[in-house]
Amino acid sequence: MNSDDGRHSRTAFTIRPYSPADSEATVEIFLRAIREVASKDYSPAQVDAWATVEDHRAWAARRSSRPTWIVENKTGPVGFADLEPKGNLDMMFVCPDHQGVGAATLLLAKVEAAAKEKGLSRLSTDASLTARLFFEGRGFVVLARQIVEKRGQVLQNFRMEKFLR
Ligand SMILES: CC(C)(COP(=O)(O)OP(=O)(O)OC[C@H]1O[C@@H](n2cnc3c(N)ncnc32)[C@H](O)[C@@H]1OP(=O)(O)O)[C@@H](O)C(=O)NCCC(=O)NCCS
Repeated sequence: MNSDDGRHSRTAFTIRPYSPADSEATVEIFLRAIREVASKDYSPAQVDAWATVEDHRAWAARRSSRPTWIVENKTGPVGFADLEPKGNLDMMFVCPDHQGVGAATLLLAKVEAAAKEKGLSRLSTDASLTARLFFEGRGFVVLARQIVEKRGQVLQNFRMEKFLR
């Protein structure tokens, strides 16, 4: 992808805190990121099991229950990430139209800064097969290969951590 292309310029992204009005945009990003990006690493049945949001009110409540950030360009949200109280990064999803141009890198920098402000010394995450190399490239190491069950399907991911300096 041409990073000089104005539509995909890294500098076109900004980070801001999530607001409840962003809930449906985050559902859309979550579903598309799995169906169109993570689908290269998981089977159609696994994708169907993972890319499901049955209860949109429960989804909205979860997003508002912990610090969450939106990365956006002038057209609106293109990705989101969050930080649970003990330093676990639960969600990190970027729209398929804006992959590989630094959106998740900006989000992770924000998550790391927020974790440091809270006095946390370590971040953890359960990284998908798709996200593992992104996190490794940003200083995370794999602690364990995991098998998780979602709606009757078995999916592989990686428990990862990064010590903050
Ligand atoms: C993982 C994800 C969040 C990364 O978002 P992104 O905005 O494309 O990431 P960035 O552009 O900030 O960074 C991309 C970096 O990761 C690296 N990277 C990402 N995926 C990679 C892969 N499969 N192989 C090699 N490198 C990869 C790129 O080389 C790039 O590194 P560089 O900037 O040093 O060259 C995004 O691909 C995504 O939404 N994936 C699908 C959903 C998912 O699996 N989410 C994680 C759930 S745990």
